[in-house]
Amino acid sequence: MIILGIETTCDETAASIIKAEKGKIDILSNIVSSQIELHAKWGGVVPNLAAREHLKNIIPVLKEALEKSKKTPGQIDLISVANGPGLIPALLIGVNAAKTLSYIWEKPLIGVHHIEGHIYANFINEIRSIPNPQLPVSKKLLIKFPVLCLVVSGGHTQLVLIKKHLDYQIIGETLDDAAGEAFDKVARILGLSYPGGPAVAAYASAWTSDVRKGHVMSIDLPRPMINSKDFNFSFSGLKTAVLYETKKHPEFLKNKNYISGICHEFQQSVCDVLISKTIKAAAEYRPKTIMLAGGVSANRELRNQLGTTIEKKLGKTLYRIPEIKYCADNAAMIAAAGFYRWKKIGNRKKLHDNWKTLSADANLKL
Ligand code: KG4
Ligand code: ZN
Repeated sequence: MIILGIETTCDETAASIIKAEKGKIDILSNIVSSQIELHAKWGGVVPNLAAREHLKNIIPVLKEALEKSKKTPGQIDLISVANGPGLIPALLIGVNAAKTLSYIWEKPLIGVHHIEGHIYANFINEIRSIPNPQLPVSKKLLIKFPVLCLVVSGGHTQLVLIKKHLDYQIIGETLDDAAGEAFDKVARILGLSYPGGPAVAAYASAWTSDVRKGHVMSIDLPRPMINSKDFNFSFSGLKTAVLYETKKHPEFLKNKNYISGICHEFQQSVCDVLISKTIKAAAEYRPKTIMLAGGVSANRELRNQLGTTIEKKLGKTLYRIPEIKYCADNAAMIAAAGFYRWKKIGNRKKLHDNWKTLSADANLKL
């Protein structure tokens, strides 16, 4: 079947056409119009500005997605839209576009949770030999339930136990800032560009090479809640620790090696806590697969270190990560999640009437 996905929960206007058959998902087009430059000067996403940009971009993005996929509206079998959580002014644009198309084209419509989309990014191009190249490409690599998914994005940090498709149990989450939010705030403290994740990661990797040249600086940041008995997280104190560290030596902020040292230590602290809690949760819940999801899953250190630790400590557990291009917000993941929702629905005829009732929900629960 052919599915149109639409995503406007935050600052990316995205549309994608996918072909989903027997659990195999092919991406026919995946268009993302990013508003990063617009929001960068404010240091974060401004909801009303985001909505204006979505309004400007939604039709061109939809048009491009259709053209690239070489599909016509008549060939579309389902429309899947992220209807929350997110910024209401932004969400309304995508949801309204999806409802309008559903009504005019007379197509079924499904609402998808944004984080569910991130989780299902792992099901795109599922049969691959990475991240464990030793294993032959075979069914052995297919995601097996129960799955433990570490969700790390700008708005969420959660450990989600998924016993079967679409069945989510949140077993741990952040008590304050999300991991991506911490990256963004630390970048701001250090005067780096927005969004902070890629900037902090780039500085962190530069530090490694400086160490080899012998310029070592000792910066020790805490590992918040690493020894707590639950599976929750806290990153707000870590960000404050970075702030205090910079206040000790404000003159060092002009020193690139110092910035790199802080970024390296901060990133390692986040990785240590995320990995430690994931392994602890896996020891208790014994998943067959561990997955990463959300914008921070693009972080190479997190991807690699989690993979290495799983291999060392949990031998047979499969480890799955989304391809880098599907880590950040996109609509292919929304279409993919829509496919699995559609498969589960008994009375699909009802989906034709969803344009009347589907609403946007800023606080939609997984
Ligand atoms: O999932 P996402 O694209 O949007 C939300 O749903 O929030 O995640 C965005 C977050 C931002 O906080 C961004 O700084 C972070 O993901 N991020 C990264 C990296 N790339 C994006 N964090 C760490 N390392 C990265 N390479
Ligand atoms: Zn996201």
